[in-house]
Amino acid sequence: MSQQLKKVFIFLDTDKHASSFDILTTIDTFPDAAILKYENVTAEDAEKIVYDAMFPRGPEGTKHTKIFINGHDFKRVNEILEKIRECMFPPFELAVIVDPRGAYTTATAAVAKTVELSLERGFGKLENKTVMVLAGTGPVGQTAGRLYASEKANVIVTSRSLQRASSVATKINEEFESEIARGIEAQTSEEIGKAIEDAEIILSAGAAGVQLVSLETLEEYGKNCKIVADINAIPPLGVEGLKSEADGEEILPNIFGIGALAIGKLKNKIEVELIKRAAEEPTGIFDYEIAYEIAKKTILGKFEEKKSREDEQEKYWLPY
Ligand SMILES: NC(=O)c1ccc[n+]([C@@H]2O[C@H](COP(=O)([O-])OP(=O)(O)OC[C@H]3O[C@@H](n4cnc5c(N)ncnc54)[C@H](OP(=O)(O)O)[C@@H]3O)[C@@H](O)[C@H]2O)c1
Repeated sequence: MSQQLKKVFIFLDTDKHASSFDILTTIDTFPDAAILKYENVTAEDAEKIVYDAMFPRGPEGTKHTKIFINGHDFKRVNEILEKIRECMFPPFELAVIVDPRGAYTTATAAVAKTVELSLERGFGKLENKTVMVLAGTGPVGQTAGRLYASEKANVIVTSRSLQRASSVATKINEEFESEIARGIEAQTSEEIGKAIEDAEIILSAGAAGVQLVSLETLEEYGKNCKIVADINAIPPLGVEGLKSEADGEEILPNIFGIGALAIGKLKNKIEVELIKRAAEEPTGIFDYEIAYEIAKKTILGKFEEKKSREDEQEKYWLPY
């Protein structure tokens, strides 16, 4: 008789307290699953925890054991992931979710929402468009920059430090083997204004409770801007005059806005789907790439459907 194996999610968090957000999301998605959590985790700790998780239930059990890597320390999160990759060998392989403090699911939701609005408003795809990620040096901003680069947009990352902005841009350029990204220093209203002058899309990715752009600056310098999005839901918001609930409304003539709560709603859906995917698959890394695939499917599927309908119609309209 085959043994019924319980689904177990093991949270490895780099923070002092594991995020209850992701644990609760997992419990709501799989109420019958067991949850184990470890805090202040280092790569060395992760190795021991993962080996201990792999062997007691055998290869079949590892298929039902999921790891969720979390925490504020972006660098350590990646070290833990690398260590887990090294630990796994067939048939002892696990499915690993990576979403450091929601950065991956938030960035994917933010980028997908801007792509969606651009298509909806008839501005088209992001290829060759100039996208500005304001304060794009945090986990969310860095991930959003990579995703915009994957859409072939020209990415500009700002920071209060030129060195930090350039370092993010260099990583993106190395990953995409191109010169698609550049970093600039912008701190004062005037510097931020000058920075956004060429931007067609702006994503404000600054820390919680920090306003980066005033309405006056956006009005004066944002002549090329069509879409502005903000991921900071804690007042003061990142972009003055852009409400958290905004979901495509015009906030200044010809500038359409997406607020943090509208992004957050999609973020939550993506996270649930990411957890479900990892639960279904015996192995694999479920990170921002899979999250973006889910985001695009969720939000952009309708455009693809419309396009394929149009392509289909075009076939019939051909005059021969
Ligand atoms: N909607 C959601 O579901 C959701 C989920 C997760 C996170 N978030 C939000 O997403 C945003 C980004 O998250 P994160 O973890 O990537 O942010 P973070 O690392 O805390 O901050 C991002 C960047 O903001 C800049 N910054 C920090 N303090 C500043 C200040 N006083 N003035 C100007 N710039 C400042 C820093 O850039 P430099 O030092 O390089 O200038 C920092 O790298 C936050 O607002 C967070 O609350 C939203």
